[in-house]
Amino acid sequence: MSKLIAPSVLAADFGNLQRDCEMLNRSDADWFHIDIMDGVFVPNISYGMPVLDAITKHATKTIDTHLMIVDPDRYVKTFADLGCDILTVHFEACTHLHRTIQNIKANGMKAGVALNPHTSVDHLKDTIKDIDLVLIMSVNPGFGGQSFIENTYDKVKELKALIESKGASCLIEVDGGVTDKNAKQLIDAGADVLVAGSYVFKSADQEKTIKELRALANS
Ligand code: DX5
Ligand code: ZN
Repeated sequence: MSKLIAPSVLAADFGNLQRDCEMLNRSDADWFHIDIMDGVFVPNISYGMPVLDAITKHATKTIDTHLMIVDPDRYVKTFADLGCDILTVHFEACTHLHRTIQNIKANGMKAGVALNPHTSVDHLKDTIKDIDLVLIMSVNPGFGGQSFIENTYDKVKELKALIESKGASCLIEVDGGVTDKNAKQLIDAGADVLVAGSYVFKSADQEKTIKELRALANS
């Protein structure tokens, strides 16, 4: 399977959201990565349902939604109704993770689980076969534009080994501080999907940056 690029819309120009969504549609990007932050689970508030609704009206690709919110079960159906294809919740925000995963799937979406930098992949050994995607945070969640945490390479390798040892088939996504400097090493460690926000949207030629990042990931 090709390695995938998921630009994070958090770094887009919100005054020109339709323009930036259309750029992603035209580009080699595979998914739209959507960061929802509640100001409680993380020390920042991003955007909510009306903005997501506007994005999904223009987006023609997979909507990969990353919830950085407490008690995400409250909104699973809402995100399904808004057109999300993948819904990722944080391990640290779920008391009954298995139930939450089943809830996401029952609402017709793929179920993702995100791990903060301090959370060991071992916590997923009893649920890995039920999960469609694991998102490894390579920065502390809450903000775009932070520096990549180097321990991520080892963590991706450990997760890949866990997936193989359990005969599971979930995708590995890496999120935070991804650039052309770490993309290839992350793929070599076992990553399947790379999220990139600032690196894409702050570049002079965004479509070219996405094209080159995707080519690098698949080289
Ligand atoms: C951080 C978010 C990321 C963020 C990535 O909490 O989950 O998706 O948008 O942004 P960059 O690529 O700028 O680190
Ligand atoms: Zn994210």
